[in-house]
Amino acid sequence: MIYGIGIDLVENDRIEKIIKKWDLKFLNRIFSDGEIQYCKKHVQASTHYGARFAAKESFLKALGLGLGEGVRLSDIEVVNDEKGKPSLMLSGEAKVQIEKRKITEVHLSLTHTKQYATAIVLLEKV
Ligand SMILES: CC(C)(COP(=O)(O)OP(=O)(O)OC[C@H]1O[C@@H](n2cnc3c(N)ncnc32)[C@H](O)[C@@H]1OP(=O)(O)O)[C@@H](O)C(=O)NCCC(=O)NCCS
Repeated sequence: MIYGIGIDLVENDRIEKIIKKWDLKFLNRIFSDGEIQYCKKHVQASTHYGARFAAKESFLKALGLGLGEGVRLSDIEVVNDEKGKPSLMLSGEAKVQIEKRKITEVHLSLTHTKQYATAIVLLEKV
């Protein structure tokens, strides 16, 4: 059965401005090394950071949790397979919450334009 869905929309410009101001201080707080490497290799990195930021927030929405309720954004990592398909790798409190709720599947889809990035997360349990 479906446990929850979450959706989020990010303006890439906002991410770009934060990165310009805080650089690694911001990036390392939110994104994994793998995510940073993935985004950095693209011409417009902020688009891909935006999509990953949206994925992290969508995951929280799907759980019904907000920021500051225990799960850190860095506990939620987007990884792409060899075909480019993204999925979420969870650690820390994010993993604890998934196990506590007996969620068996976590689905993620991303899309972006130059201006906006969007993610949708769907959680399933038996
Ligand atoms: C899936 C596909 C149709 C999406 O095309 P698109 O409309 O230009 O993509 P969007 O801009 O809407 O979304 C981009 C996101 O789609 C996701 N995506 C990419 N490939 C995907 C796939 N095979 N399955 C599911 N999602 C995929 C990624 O999350 C990507 O964002 P990210 O790079 O920041 O992680 C296209 O990427 C495709 O045909 N891929 C097939 C695999 C392929 O040819 N890969 C080339 C490897 S060099």
